[in-house]
Amino acid sequence: MSVRKPEPDLQPLALFQEWFAAAVASGMAMPEAMTLATATASGRPSARMVLFKGLDPAGRLRFFTNYDSRKAGELDDNPRAALLFWWPTLYVQVRVEGRVVRLPAAESDAYFASRPRLSQLGAVASPQSRPIMDFQQLLDRVSTLAHEIGDHPVPRPDNWGGYAVEPDAWEFWVGHDGRLHERFVYIREGATWAFKLLAP
Ligand SMILES: Cc1cc2nc3c(=O)[nH]c(=O)nc-3n(C[C@H](O)[C@H](O)[C@H](O)COP(=O)(O)O)c2cc1C
Repeated sequence: MSVRKPEPDLQPLALFQEWFAAAVASGMAMPEAMTLATATASGRPSARMVLFKGLDPAGRLRFFTNYDSRKAGELDDNPRAALLFWWPTLYVQVRVEGRVVRLPAAESDAYFASRPRLSQLGAVASPQSRPIMDFQQLLDRVSTLAHEIGDHPVPRPDNWGGYAVEPDAWEFWVGHDGRLHERFVYIREGATWAFKLLAP
């Protein structure tokens, strides 16, 4: 399975959507899993996997998390991130860099409401990125919450919601034998994109 190669006149977002659809169609596990890299204000980087949850109406890449987590703290101080997708079934990777903003509460509400109930309870119960005494206590808290909430909808906690990454740089990487890979870069320049090829 192959993908369309980037060209100067293509819109990188449209190309990303095409490649993502191809990754989904390739049947690989979790094509929506992406590495999210953030950094402290002093430049210390950290990376973790999160799930790409589609585009917002402005064409920004969404993910959802805990607003008290390590990543959220780093984004509060330094609201830029890098994203990385690796789709081995296509032998391509996509790098994205950009400014990060929190999604409006209504968008986070809508996504939270669509999640499986156990994930909702887990989001409420888990103080993400903070030390806990023991794992069983966390499971007990989920059970207690489930009991307390009963059949009612689980309300979205204030400290859980979405972010949107507004790309200002894209790199589309196409792997080939003999490490002669192709690298296509789009850098935002005002309303347009500067296009470059990079050596592998
Ligand atoms: C495949 C995969 C998908 C994940 N998706 C998310 C996600 O969408 N949101 C999230 O908060 N954590 C997700 N996690 C957990 C994060 O990698 C990470 O452990 C957590 O967000 C805490 O990161 P932090 O302490 O750097 O903030 C995922 C982990 C894996 C392996």
